[in-house]
Amino acid sequence: MRPGLRFTTFALAALAASALALVASALAADAPFAPAAAAFAPAADAAFAPAAVAASAPAAAPTDAVRATPRDAWSADEKAVIASMRLDAAGERPADPSNAYEARVDAAAFGRALFEDARLSRNGQVSCASCHAAERQFQDGRPLGQGLGTGKRRTMPVMGAERSPFLFWDGRKDSLWSQALGPLEDAAEHGGNRVRFVRLVQGHYAQSYAQVFGPLPTFGALPDDASPAGSEAERAAWAALPGRTRDDVNRVFANIGKAIAAYERQVTYGESRFDTYARATIENDGRGQAALSLQEVRGLRLFLGKGQCVTCHNGPLLTDHAFHNTGVPPLDPKSPDRGRADGVQRLLRDEFNCLGRYSDARPEQCGELHFVSTDDPALLGAFRTPSLRNAAERPPYMHAGQFATLGEVIDHDARAPEAASGQTELKPLALDEHERGELIAFLRTLSALPPTN
Ligand code: HEC
Ligand code: HEC
Repeated sequence: MRPGLRFTTFALAALAASALALVASALAADAPFAPAAAAFAPAADAAFAPAAVAASAPAAAPTDAVRATPRDAWSADEKAVIASMRLDAAGERPADPSNAYEARVDAAAFGRALFEDARLSRNGQVSCASCHAAERQFQDGRPLGQGLGTGKRRTMPVMGAERSPFLFWDGRKDSLWSQALGPLEDAAEHGGNRVRFVRLVQGHYAQSYAQVFGPLPTFGALPDDASPAGSEAERAAWAALPGRTRDDVNRVFANIGKAIAAYERQVTYGESRFDTYARATIENDGRGQAALSLQEVRGLRLFLGKGQCVTCHNGPLLTDHAFHNTGVPPLDPKSPDRGRADGVQRLLRDEFNCLGRYSDARPEQCGELHFVSTDDPALLGAFRTPSLRNAAERPPYMHAGQFATLGEVIDHDARAPEAASGQTELKPLALDEHERGELIAFLRTLSALPPTN
């Protein structure tokens, strides 16, 4: 199976079809639908199967007449889609072949320490947790990330990232570990450089490191600051290092990312009221369906039907993990963010991608990279569909925090304005005030208690 290709097929299907047509085709052949659940891994069919089976199997023997009578009637097709949106329809995520350490408990403990350590920054004040705080949904509630400087995009929550084949709003990374290396050297975030981080590990984490990855390489004298991604002086210092040293530094740097990824993988979404409702719906349990109010259920109907939201927001995380232009106004109209069009080029050039020297994967395990689409005009101004789980709890919205409330998001989706660059995929929707309120009410049912770890 080629996840990348199936992904593309899915994206095209999503464009061409209305939400319900899509549902029908998903049932006819589960191939186009499977990527939503598990585009990142060959186990896609397995991950989707339990939901589909649950939806089409006869209901469990009713214990009494009330239980057997659904309060809200749904067609078999709709039930299958609702079943596929349950959190537990996701199943176990298959291992990331590019990170051989990600399932290790000692790696996760080391990774957590790194995630919370502000010494991993130029000024000693910024850690991953500064912007991704556990008590704030692993994000910061700001329109733009704020570290050493102000970034150009909104901080994304860490939950669910492990499920996405491409990371960041523009998908410029293809693994959690490789993602983690980005902010560490970003001038507006941690503002550090890899040589500094290697010295920090030498000085403070030599034992934790050795336990997971084996002993640190022996380095001669290292410069204070050096990186191929840094300032001119840092780049010159990097170029002056022997090739062997550069390789050793890169390997330790990559391993910092692999430990952080092992920790992040444990950060997941919790069950929401919607999940209770979905289960009850599959079981024809009318009483259980009371988990949602009638207004919220009307919102779900709009989400699946007239609103066509499920075209992109589907599967257990309410995202297809794909990139779409939805005409969100750019932060800087003079130089609009090109989104996926630039992200995919950066991904292919990245020395820390799945095919790179520091990946633990065999080349044939890097399906997403082999089949990634690079020259499709639809990539211009396209951003990754965000998960809608817990979204109600973490305004503002969109890739640069352009909208302050869910109401503004729905108004935008209904208006479907022209995009500043590229073409929007949205079509105008006639939604009256009641319907907008219903959609928002439904979105609020997707929230769980803040994740714990
Ligand atoms: C200054 C604030 C800031 C800091 C510090 C920071 N991040 Fe982020 N994080 C962001 C922003 C902003 C984005 C989205 C950037 C983009 O798409 O270009 C992001 C995106 C992510 C994502 C992608 C989630 C997804 O679904 O694709 C992960 C995972 C993540 N950060 C983890 C980390 C880790 C690990 C660290 C520490 C090594 C870190 N972040 C440090 C602001 C920050
Ligand atoms: C064509 C695919 C597509 C469709 C259809 C779609 N969305 Fe989205 N949605 C996206 C993308 C992509 C973004 C991020 C856009 C950006 O930041 O530029 C997004 C963002 C959002 C957000 C903000 C989440 C966040 O964390 O920033 C919400 C809420 C949302 N959509 C709800 C909906 C609802 C409700 C509908 C139906 C009325 C809908 N979407 C239809 C693709 C889609």
